[in-house]
Amino acid sequence: MPNSIEVCVLAAGKGTRMKSNKPKILHEVAGKPLVEHVIDSVRDLEVERIHVIVGAGSDQVESAFANRGLNFVSQLEQLGTGHAVQQAVPYLSSERTLILVGDAPLITQTSLERLLSADGDLVILTAEHPDPYNYGRIVRDGEEVLHIVEERDASVEEQRIREINTGVMVARTEDLKNWLAELSTDNVQGEYLLTDIVKIAKQTGATVRASLADSYEEALGVNNFVQLSDVEKCFQMRAARSLQMEGVHIVDPNRFTLRGNLKIGQDSFIDVDCVFEGNVELGNGVQIGANCVIRDTKIGANTVIKPFTHIDGVEMEENCQAGPFSRLRPGTHFEPGVAVGNFVEVKKSRLGAGTKASHLSYLGDATIGKEVNIGAGAITCNYDGVSKFETHIEDGVFVGVNAAMVAPITIGEWSTIAAGSTVTSKVPEDTLSVGRARQRNIEGWKGPRNQKRNKISNEEQDG
Ligand code: UD1
Ligand code: CA
Repeated sequence: MPNSIEVCVLAAGKGTRMKSNKPKILHEVAGKPLVEHVIDSVRDLEVERIHVIVGAGSDQVESAFANRGLNFVSQLEQLGTGHAVQQAVPYLSSERTLILVGDAPLITQTSLERLLSADGDLVILTAEHPDPYNYGRIVRDGEEVLHIVEERDASVEEQRIREINTGVMVARTEDLKNWLAELSTDNVQGEYLLTDIVKIAKQTGATVRASLADSYEEALGVNNFVQLSDVEKCFQMRAARSLQMEGVHIVDPNRFTLRGNLKIGQDSFIDVDCVFEGNVELGNGVQIGANCVIRDTKIGANTVIKPFTHIDGVEMEENCQAGPFSRLRPGTHFEPGVAVGNFVEVKKSRLGAGTKASHLSYLGDATIGKEVNIGAGAITCNYDGVSKFETHIEDGVFVGVNAAMVAPITIGEWSTIAAGSTVTSKVPEDTLSVGRARQRNIEGWKGPRNQKRNKISNEEQDG
């Protein structure tokens, strides 16, 4: 097919230096496996097919990415990066082949697009690296790349070269196949080095060019947990910077974590040490206090989330408040102006406009109307040990402190549940429901406290 492109992702390495049982490329940056970042970088490039070369832990890799339309190619023995691409040769049929490395997750679509439109029979994506140690160095003659020399094969002079091989390259598939066939293990590593195709290509009269990436971060590869955290830091800084440029007030980009997608309106504020996971959407003027964890949630305009609040699978409309120390669980919906305070847990419940639960409550499987007040310590008893039941609290209800509402139950509008009540059956509207033992006062009571009181007053007299 003319101009068609397919992709080979090298992901068969053992990752020995990680000292982990998990295949290296499944370790995560921003909550997503390294290799998935790489696969996602070509998502919008209209490639014909993506071949992933797998070896170490291939079962785990294949099951992690089942149903993604990837072609897994196995490399039984890891004999080098060139050998890895050789395994894909029988499957390559597009006009051009783009090679990516599975352990460098910060590659951008912009750099790949520039690489794909660059001149040259073989084009290498390179980067200017401040600390090029251990990367392949680019030896040039002007525009032309002469060869790539690996650290261990490099002379002292070559080791000084700052331009490095990112491991990403593109060529016509037919040429690539011919060059790969010429690879040998004649080098210090004794491996089939993909980088050796530069020399081979030049011998056939091909032009080899470099396309420079915008930043060296794109080339950062992960070989151990130190590099994994370095890459994580770069990723998070990039994410925070881009949100800041869109007008979000992030107090400290070094203390911001995104593991998914975050959409934010204008004039929103994010304090330190918050974690955003999955798909999170914040409206205009939303404030997120320090140390909040927010996952798969939509928060309406001018809502304030106070510190140490955990929110998962929730939809909050505008002008709501939560926290400090609230826990809002999946299936919860807050209508405008709802406020929940410290140590309030809400699960799979709808709270009507203006409703408040300010302290120490559990509301589960409940439908709560507008302007309801839930007193401190009030609890829905939604579980009998086997099944879950629903609680309906209609508009305007006042639930006194420490009430236990045993579901299934309905509390009619504008009723009051007396403090400390356990209510087990329907409460009609405009009703005071008292479900507790009646108070008895026994006067002149001589109990243990009475003896203690006498002892204290005797001691006072003796002193
Ligand atoms: C490689 C490049 C180096 C470049 C660097 C960029 C070669 C010889 N060297 O070095 O020039 O600067 O990447 O990060 O290409 N892999 C396989 N099968 C194998 C060996 C490796 O699939 O037999 C995969 C690994 O899983 C990894 C990638 O290829 O995802 C790169 O291999 P790695 O051993 O990390 O190469 P580097 O030493 O980093
Ligand atoms: Ca590497």
